[in-house]
Amino acid sequence: MGEKAIIEINKLVKHYKNADADAVDSMSLRIGQGEIYGLLGPNGAGKTTTISMLCGLLRPDSGDIIIDGLNLKTSADKIKSLIGVVPQDIAIYEELTAKENLGFFGKMYGLKNAEIKNISNSLLMRFRLGEKAGQRAKTFSGGMKRRLNLIAGIMHSPKILFLDEPTVGIDVQSKNVILEFLKEIKESGTTIVYTSHIMEEAEKLCSRISIMDRGKEIASGTPKDLLEKNTDCKNLEDIFLKLTGRKLRE
Ligand SMILES: Nc1ncnc2c1ncn2[C@@H]1O[C@H](COP(=O)(O)OP(=O)(O)OP(=O)(O)O)[C@@H](O)[C@H]1O
Ligand SMILES: [Mg+2]
Repeated sequence: MGEKAIIEINKLVKHYKNADADAVDSMSLRIGQGEIYGLLGPNGAGKTTTISMLCGLLRPDSGDIIIDGLNLKTSADKIKSLIGVVPQDIAIYEELTAKENLGFFGKMYGLKNAEIKNISNSLLMRFRLGEKAGQRAKTFSGGMKRRLNLIAGIMHSPKILFLDEPTVGIDVQSKNVILEFLKEIKESGTTIVYTSHIMEEAEKLCSRISIMDRGKEIASGTPKDLLEKNTDCKNLEDIFLKLTGRKLRE
């Protein structure tokens, strides 16, 4: 990582009511500007909980989150204007058309009508939804909804983008369009934090990764570092299985 951390979390803890264990148990991370950072881990590891706290949707029990030099506890509004979130559970309005959905999100981000129109048109085309712009989201396939969900999170060109499993449940073509887009916005300086179960994808895409299990970081580094440290493993998936075990999770 370069010198400057754009995201810094320190001993972050989250315990859900009635849960046996902490969902996030003293996680610390430093993410540099312009990185594509992968948060990897089996089901229930605490990835979504971590991302939800980073983007201010969920309050930590303890620990600090500093984003672009601002403390989330005291500067939540400023931070919200810097970040984009693409949630794991699709968050678009089924009864609205693709365009109306983007109108809603664009206004929420404070974009002007003309900006919303231009950006919506170009992103809908880019993600091959141009012809469907006037159709209600409920008529979309799962992959089309995922692409619309993604556009909704990026239309204000956030400086930091959080993506929670953006490539789950979509075909190879859609996946490629999304991954190409992520590489492109990384080139323009956007910092991306993303979660995935697809190790091969993370290995190619991420500058650094953290492997989480049971709310804790159990390994971190560049994919190359991790391979050098685990000479018995031939790829990230082997390392993942070695560290997190082969037993099924929740
Ligand atoms: N709202 C909630 N209330 C109670 N427990 C929760 C809640 N959300 C998550 N959990 C629990 O917290 C732990 C971490 O869940 P989280 O969703 O953060 O995992 P994840 O790594 O995103 O998993 P997945 O890969 O399945 O998306 C799990 O044990 C889960 O059951
Ligand atoms: Mg999750």
